[in-house]
Amino acid sequence: MHLPGAISVALLMLSCGTHHTVAQLELAKNYVCTEDFCDNYRENSECEVLKSACRAQNATHNGIIFPSATPCSCCRTCIENLRLGDDCSVGGLGYPVPASICGPGLYCKVADGDEHPTCQPMLESSKCYTAQKEFDEQRQQGLIGHLMQRPDCDADGHYQPVRCIPGQTCYCVDEDGQRIFGEAVHTASIQISMRCECSRLAAKARKLLNSQYPVLTSRCDSKGSFDQLQCVDEMCVCVDMHTGHPTSDLRNISRGLSVLPCFDRRLHENITYLRDCESVKLTQLYDISEFEADDFNVLEFDRDICQPDGYYDRIQRHPTGGYLYCSDRDGAIIEDFRAPLNSRLAATMTCKCAKARKLLLDSKSLEIPECCPNGNYRSLACRRGECYCVDEDGNQIGIERPEKDKQSLPCYNGGDYCNASGTLVRVSCPSNRGLRDHP
Ligand SMILES: *[C@@H]1O[C@H](CO)[C@@H](O)[C@H](O)[C@H]1NC(C)=O
Ligand SMILES: *[C@@H]1O[C@H](CO)[C@@H](O)[C@H](O)[C@H]1NC(C)=O
Ligand SMILES: *[C@@H]1O[C@H](CO)[C@@H](O)[C@H](O)[C@H]1NC(C)=O
Ligand SMILES: *[C@@H]1O[C@H](CO)[C@@H](O)[C@H](O)[C@H]1NC(C)=O
Repeated sequence: MHLPGAISVALLMLSCGTHHTVAQLELAKNYVCTEDFCDNYRENSECEVLKSACRAQNATHNGIIFPSATPCSCCRTCIENLRLGDDCSVGGLGYPVPASICGPGLYCKVADGDEHPTCQPMLESSKCYTAQKEFDEQRQQGLIGHLMQRPDCDADGHYQPVRCIPGQTCYCVDEDGQRIFGEAVHTASIQISMRCECSRLAAKARKLLNSQYPVLTSRCDSKGSFDQLQCVDEMCVCVDMHTGHPTSDLRNISRGLSVLPCFDRRLHENITYLRDCESVKLTQLYDISEFEADDFNVLEFDRDICQPDGYYDRIQRHPTGGYLYCSDRDGAIIEDFRAPLNSRLAATMTCKCAKARKLLLDSKSLEIPECCPNGNYRSLACRRGECYCVDEDGNQIGIERPEKDKQSLPCYNGGDYCNASGTLVRVSCPSNRGLRDHP
């Protein structure tokens, strides 16, 4: 419900992919999300005292510390860990921020006919183990295709952080196996360098805090590890790429970022830490804090336009062209992947295929996926004379068939692998032998 007199301000996306002026950068650097801004914010709005669980962090009282849902994440918040058998809530987007979640090795189990879900050990009953068992059963029945990967679980029963599409790319997943930020070309040793710690932290913060503001967490690199260079305002520090813990002292960067031992000219600019997208985002946050200072109630904020690595997110809206497009990290369109606003192709647009395709083309890989006009994976792919169904993330689902029998695949859909023709099933196949209706 809107409060009486409150005004909903939907901040529209600022132009994307265009050049931002030095003045804008300076604005972001000098006025937004600086320590001064936060000192000021904390003075006027007062952060809540961190709960005792997070201050204690002993065997019985512990929790996770997050930046809280305040402009610039100036305050910190503690989400307490629950113990075995404690009541919990399943939550999700749109729910209030939970004060506590099931601790390590536990998950919130909704028992049949039981009103209150409780924290139970993951292990055997966890989603990942269950998926593993299902996979093994299907393999027995000969239902597993040759590019399908057995779900990989950790000791707690969570999904391992990296999932790979053989010969193409590997991407980060959260503990429930859902895809999150972070992708790299599939190589034999990728699992050693790619562990997605930073990306998982960013995803958890977004999910738990359910913030109306983009949540600022540590900056990640493209593979979902921590960017080794982390800055707040003018002060920077080097951190370990996997733990995020400092490996250097704090340095003032007014004389350039190159004073830091982890400065890498291929990844960082000497003059400013902020990336183009980050400075645009910070300007938006600054606008919000101005509106709030004027007693407007900012109820809506557009989707975060940046990825956790500070570059542009993969779907961007063209400022004037009336379409969404698949964006590279600098905000430019990838090939010609786009979808008109309010179209069916826009509603289902993921750009996951377009991004993977760019990564693979740039690294001169041999297997390049074909994508739909909106940058999604095509629901049916063929490789070396065999065809198979593909999920949203590019993984094979089900068993492959020889190319001449592809009509019998459940994803054949009359030859429309992109839902391009809406609900109509286009029958355009010249050889209609064995043509079946899509179930
Ligand atoms: C942990 O810390 C809390 C709060 O300070 C305290 O009450 C509790 O006794 C401590 N537990 C252990 C096992 O040290
Ligand atoms: C960093 O150094 C500059 C120039 O020496 C100085 O003006 C500024 O106050 C310093 N910033 C911090 C946060 O110490
Ligand atoms: C970074 O900038 C500073 C100040 O302009 C300069 O002294 C330094 O040499 C630069 N370092 C690199 C690696 O360009
Ligand atoms: C086609 O649409 C269905 C249902 O709307 C969706 O589940 C599927 O992922 C879409 N396929 C593609 C390739 O976009």
